[in-house]
Amino acid sequence: MAISSRAKKVTTQTLVKMKQSGEKIAMLTAYDYSLARLVDNAGIDVILVGDSASNVMAGNETTVPITLEHMIYHAQCVINGVDRALVVVDMPFGSYQGDSKTALDSAIRIMKESGGHAVKLEGGTEVCESVKLIVEAGIPVMGHLGLTPQSIYKFGTYTVRAKEEAEAAKLMEDAKALEEAGCFSVVFEKIPSELAKQVSEALTIPTIGIGAGPDCDGQVLVLHDMLGITKDFSPRFLRRYADLGSMTEDAVKQYVSDVRSMDFPNEEERY
Ligand code: KIV
Repeated sequence: MAISSRAKKVTTQTLVKMKQSGEKIAMLTAYDYSLARLVDNAGIDVILVGDSASNVMAGNETTVPITLEHMIYHAQCVINGVDRALVVVDMPFGSYQGDSKTALDSAIRIMKESGGHAVKLEGGTEVCESVKLIVEAGIPVMGHLGLTPQSIYKFGTYTVRAKEEAEAAKLMEDAKALEEAGCFSVVFEKIPSELAKQVSEALTIPTIGIGAGPDCDGQVLVLHDMLGITKDFSPRFLRRYADLGSMTEDAVKQYVSDVRSMDFPNEEERY
């Protein structure tokens, strides 16, 4: 990455320009100050304060239980560690579905109380009225299509979405509707690569894929998955860049052993 582009803050306009120039967008999740700081220092373009915090931070089975207050707290922590990246905050389940005035109020709370730069919500045509209202209020919105984990009890499974023609056509229609409603970007989760390519080419806004192949305008992974901290989650799309889970366990085992044997603290580690 060029030093000049690292120094500048990333905006929604930066992402649109990256799509236009063919430069791929790198996005990761973060939920706390310390890791957000490392991720930002390493040159990430977008940090998503994902509602996956419900899984990786709180240990819940789904993203359904996490609240607006929890998301605002995580986003505040992330914002404190970030200088350059665009910080997008997930709107949690129950904070926007059904009523666009509620959606607007939730988005305003996220922006005012966390200092985040944009919000993300799941769904297609059914959320477009809310998207329009939020965008009109000056808040950038990222969409999310394909596998939408907040609807897990409707789908019943985390399997690949839009494999059938009718669902693929609906996804294309939803993506165009989100762009029309004012979304600055859209995430595609677990959809066939060929469909992601076609929809990415049909849109002027950048698409970010997770399990959606190489032809999206960018990629996103859950930080704890790619660092190997979560060990029991191994979908095909996940590349592990480190094994911090094993490193952490080994370090803690060594510490326990050193404490027991009184190897720690040694002469230099005391006053
Ligand atoms: O919450 C999250 O981490 C997400 C990503 C999977 C895109 O929405």
